[in-house]
Amino acid sequence: MHQPIGDPFSDALVERLAQARRVAVLTGAGISAESGVPTFRDPDGLWQQFRPEELANVEAFLRNPVLVQGWYAHRRAVVDGVEPNPGHRALAELEQMVVKKRGAFLLATQNVDGLHARAGSEHLIELHGTLTRSYCIACEREANETELAALESGDAAHCPACAGLLRPDVVWFGEMLPEGAMEHAAEAAAASDVFLSIGTSAVVYPAAGLPLIAKQAGAYVAEINPQRSDIAFRLDEHVRGKAGVVLPVLLERLRAFTAA
Ligand code: OAD
Repeated sequence: MHQPIGDPFSDALVERLAQARRVAVLTGAGISAESGVPTFRDPDGLWQQFRPEELANVEAFLRNPVLVQGWYAHRRAVVDGVEPNPGHRALAELEQMVVKKRGAFLLATQNVDGLHARAGSEHLIELHGTLTRSYCIACEREANETELAALESGDAAHCPACAGLLRPDVVWFGEMLPEGAMEHAAEAAAASDVFLSIGTSAVVYPAAGLPLIAKQAGAYVAEINPQRSDIAFRLDEHVRGKAGVVLPVLLERLRAFTAA
């Protein structure tokens, strides 16, 4: 496979993407790393400092709602203070290119930071929910910012309508993904001509199964990540590098290829 000097990816990837009618993408925390959002499993990742079992499951929440609500309030503040990076924007542009030629595009993200939507991605599935919404665990009413701000007083934030606890609309360990989300993502993966797995360690299932579903169904599957994930050896190509650096170059090559 020819790989031009200077490009971290192969010509084959550019050609396949240019010819693809259907493109599907999976992203993980790595795509937001260059925006300043910490990942989970890197040496400076969240799960090195915090224990998932104390923060990311419903039992932990019921045991200590102030701790868990506070942790998510902190993560919301981090995300509110950052911007989408060139990697997020390149994926929004890739979507535009595919849609313009009447192809199908789907971006499934494991991230809850809302940065893909802010970058302009529209054909988007947030497999693990989003930090940008919270709701009452008793009456399921969506909460607003003022209600969540009650936390600042040191008390747990409660629903003003029924006094139930407010929780972030994210998927915790042991919980189901949003209804239909995985089915939709798996269909898009299986139908894709090219599948990109970007910035994920690919260890949390079912999301981590998407690149393998695509590969098994005959897609060309490339991973973009400074490290090889555990599933890299089963894919067609590992592109070593940061998403915010690699993706804009890939888009540039793609534009040049399609214009030629
Ligand atoms: P991880 O923290 O497990 O993996 C992040 C990946 O991003 C690693 O493979 C890094 O090598 C890579 N990476 C770091 N910087 C990068 C960059 N600039 N460009 C590209 N890649 C980079 O995060 P996820 O795979 O997203 O789930 O984790 C999956 C799930 O585990 C999360 O959604 C979360 C967590 O527990 C829940 O909370 C349900």
